Amino acid sequence: MNESLTQNVTEAFGHCADARTKEIVTALVRHLHAFARDVNLTHDEWRRGIEFLTATGKKCDGIRQEFILLSDTLGLSIVLDDINQHHDDGATESSLLGPFYRDGVKEAALGANIAQSDGEPVYFHGVVSVVSGKPVADALIEVWQTAPNGMYEGQDPDQPEGNLRGRFRTDADGAYAFHSIKPTSYPIPTDGPVGQMLLATGRHPMRPAHIHFRIDAPGYEPLTTALYSSDDPYVNSDAVFGVKPSLVIEYVSKDGGYDAARDFVLIPRERA
Ligand SMILES: [Fe+2]
Repeated sequence: MNESLTQNVTEAFGHCADARTKEIVTALVRHLHAFARDVNLTHDEWRRGIEFLTATGKKCDGIRQEFILLSDTLGLSIVLDDINQHHDDGATESSLLGPFYRDGVKEAALGANIAQSDGEPVYFHGVVSVVSGKPVADALIEVWQTAPNGMYEGQDPDQPEGNLRGRFRTDADGAYAFHSIKPTSYPIPTDGPVGQMLLATGRHPMRPAHIHFRIDAPGYEPLTTALYSSDDPYVNSDAVFGVKPSLVIEYVSKDGGYDAARDFVLIPRERA
């Protein structure tokens, strides 16, 4: 093994003027070389890797981003989430934003129903606060989830505009509440190279049922997270690794539907 090969390449970046770029490219070279040596990569395997990445690029267009899907399914996206989240004891953990967030949803009154699809009714409610317990009034809460067919509004021309998307403000006590239906598990797109990779490696493409939340209030770190259903068959094998134990919730049977209670704890900006 000739270690000087790797050194030659990292030294070739020695004149890079931007320190951060230099740090990233040289670390990339070191890890890439170590990876190839670790698995004794053959020329044939290298070529198949190139073909896979080429197909991944060709699958991308203005809407479809197969490389992000690859990052998600390799767990890179959730590692990034972990690196960049401001960890604070007691604060709600973050989760992936995902590709289906949409801006510009009309604000609704607390207690409104965001579902225009039939499904099992759920009453979502809770309180937004800081670690000290002080409630956060007037926090913006945005939620979005799939319909029972496993599709988000925006993916599905048959769903009414704005279906299963909501935008609310917490009241003076930090409380929020809205009606919806139980979210459904869904597959990530499988008609491209990433789907073939999952199939070839014995993995399934399913994300466990979840409802996305984005919470934003002046003076606090914005929180992007999701609540995962404890009774979902995929809750322990999310295809994109977004599930964290603290984000798994119970849907409690109540009045012919479900009650889903969940509080959120934000981090003040000055402590982030
Ligand atoms: Fe999602």
